[in-house]
Amino acid sequence: MLENGAVPPPGDSYPRPPAGGLGTRLMRRKPVERLVAEGGQGEGGTLRRSMGVWQLTMISIGATLGTGIFVVLGQAVPDAGPAVVLSFVIAGITALFSALSYAELAGTIPVSGSSYSYAYATLGELVAWVCGWCLILEYGVSVAAVAVGWGQYLNELLDGTLGVTIPTALSAPPGQGGYFNLPALLVVLLAMVFLLGGAKESARANTIMVSVKIVALLLFCGVAFQGVKSGNYANFMPMGMAGVSAAGATLFFSYIGFDAASTAGEEARNPQRDLPRAIMLSLVIVTALYCLVAAIAVGAMPWQKFKGSEAALAGILKAVTGHGYWAVLLAFGAVVAIASVVLTVLYGQTRILFAMSRDGLMPKAFAKVHPKSGVPRVNTVIVSLFCGVLAAAVPLGELADATSIGTLFAFALVNVAVIVLRKTRPDMPRAFRTPLAPLFPAIGFLLCVYMMGSLGPVTWVVFGAWMVVGLVIYFGYGMRRSRLATAEK
Ligand code: ALA
Repeated sequence: MLENGAVPPPGDSYPRPPAGGLGTRLMRRKPVERLVAEGGQGEGGTLRRSMGVWQLTMISIGATLGTGIFVVLGQAVPDAGPAVVLSFVIAGITALFSALSYAELAGTIPVSGSSYSYAYATLGELVAWVCGWCLILEYGVSVAAVAVGWGQYLNELLDGTLGVTIPTALSAPPGQGGYFNLPALLVVLLAMVFLLGGAKESARANTIMVSVKIVALLLFCGVAFQGVKSGNYANFMPMGMAGVSAAGATLFFSYIGFDAASTAGEEARNPQRDLPRAIMLSLVIVTALYCLVAAIAVGAMPWQKFKGSEAALAGILKAVTGHGYWAVLLAFGAVVAIASVVLTVLYGQTRILFAMSRDGLMPKAFAKVHPKSGVPRVNTVIVSLFCGVLAAAVPLGELADATSIGTLFAFALVNVAVIVLRKTRPDMPRAFRTPLAPLFPAIGFLLCVYMMGSLGPVTWVVFGAWMVVGLVIYFGYGMRRSRLATAEK
């Protein structure tokens, strides 16, 4: 019997799987029922189930809508021309196949570990560890990368409102002309304070921030629409399809984060029903917004002018209205937008480590839950300090690109996990089923692999080094301390 009285299904090997050779140990799987039964349980306390479909959707939108649309769009237009709208559609379709797989697994195995836990149930412990290790790139490292961008927008806002900026010495890391990126550290610490207050409170703050960023983007659309000229669309695809797909690969970054709701599986009131809905709903809303903003942006400013323009959206508003205050308003929207990415992604990272720690693959401290607040406090503080210092002191460069490769790897595994679980446990109740499986998950897998292939060699080297470190930690620590391993003894 499991701790909460649930009975493991016949044929599942928990709690004492037969001890075997190294291969068997690396392939040990954690039964789905066991994963679900443990939901919410931490060391010394339990997580609180407080979130409904609305908050979960906001978590995913919060983690997704940020630097991609405010910054990366401007960099992608010179590659694709006005057809950048198609690039958003292509990147969105790539995300969609994986989102369908996430929706199926999040509804079937609604736990905090997200793809790490899905891999544990289907592909074995080693692959699960590798997936969890990649999620640290998707979540932990990207918090740091996104926080750096926040500092730049904060400076723009300060300049536009108060006429002051934080000097480079205090707003850039060593190697980029400064000593320390103070704003980056500050935004991470601010997010930490919210998270320590409770998941419900953080979700509420996030909902407000998401509303602000959606309003900011809709405001952009409303104002910039007045400057749209049909002539700007005339040469729609100046770089051909190659340019459109290159821009699509760049813009994939703007979709990363739709999976964040799946890390809230143990704090959702009705996770089986609400997680798939939240994941799909957030993707639809975000894709619609991206296409609308992109279509209006390239209609309001000739695509050639995007080259080298840092804050393209703000520049468009200024050109259309002739007033600088619209740009300040947009900078405010971006500051709020990026802060909510930091908040939700930091949240996701703490919950993934929580799940890994409960399984024994990470130190116990990460699974400690404060009995009153229901928050994994030690975990939250450690993760925040780690990400804050990383953001403040390290020039991120290639590490930020590694975020995409790590994410794509995790997405690819989720697609495989759907196929495996359909084969091994075909009769399991599934609140949401990916259509046309195994075809759709297979397409999702291939698209992720294709996108990984389009990333540069330096990114692959960084990724390889990251993996080597991860494997050393697994073989030196996790493999022996895993709770499945201790059950074998
Ligand atoms: N999708 C997130 C962003 O665009 C990472 O900021």
